[in-house]
Amino acid sequence: MGATIIDGKRIADAVRAELRPRIAGLRARGVTPGLAAVIVGDDPASVLYVKMKSQACEEMGLHSVTLRLPADAPEAGLLAEVRGLNADPGVHGILVQQPLPSQISTMRAVSSVSVDKDVDCFHPENVGLVLIGAPRFAPATPAGVIELLVRSGNDPGGKHVVILGRSNIVGRPLAALLMQKAAGANATVTVCHSATRDLPAITRTADILVAAIGRAEFVTAAMVKPGAVVIDVGINRVADATRKSGFRTVGDVRFAEVSGVASAITPVPGGVGPMTIAMLLSNTVRAAEIAAA
Ligand code: GUN
Repeated sequence: MGATIIDGKRIADAVRAELRPRIAGLRARGVTPGLAAVIVGDDPASVLYVKMKSQACEEMGLHSVTLRLPADAPEAGLLAEVRGLNADPGVHGILVQQPLPSQISTMRAVSSVSVDKDVDCFHPENVGLVLIGAPRFAPATPAGVIELLVRSGNDPGGKHVVILGRSNIVGRPLAALLMQKAAGANATVTVCHSATRDLPAITRTADILVAAIGRAEFVTAAMVKPGAVVIDVGINRVADATRKSGFRTVGDVRFAEVSGVASAITPVPGGVGPMTIAMLLSNTVRAAEIAAA
């Protein structure tokens, strides 16, 4: 029995289609929503993500700014660029691409973004608002996971969701969103991490299993309860001599074997990735609407 494929591209297109009239409404009032991305260094995956975000903006008629700083840029230089974007009325959303080089404090970088333009929802104030169930913005990847679940008919309400990974970008904020007393949430949440004992025993109790640990094909069929829904947040490059690029992209889940056990599963690529971008656009439109109100 093969699992249903949860098509992130199709669901992201639906989210984007819902944004179009809102963008048109803003533009009719002379406001073009603007998203600025700042990238430090030239990590190929980060460069690609930022390019995809700016392409998505252009496709949707959003103003897009990309600032690229050298890998050895001092922290003060990055903070000065962010201050400039905070003050720019044509920019409604700002993201500082992670990971950052070691001379820059991630904490100070995320804290430098205006809370009203923090479309990644990485500023400690916005993280706190998510935790107390009153989000200003929903962090893009976790929000994308929830949209995928709800729009594929797998509402997490009342279910046991097991999250693999406690990162500040995915695992932690996803747990906070899913435990809210709110539509599309109301889940019972377990977060597993590198110190979790007998991981397969816990993952096998999941109605919904979310893999966000950044380890290629870590989740095997034996770790999944028959009929569970599996969401794969991983984007890992593995060497592949048959490809021109020399690598292929795989998730945190062994897709072929887990598809034989799960009732529904997201592919990589084409699952969570397109949703992250759609939710970032959604947050940018929301930030522009609030600024224009
Ligand atoms: N690095 C990996 N995912 C993300 C993301 O969603 N936002 C930013 N800024 N950096 C990332």
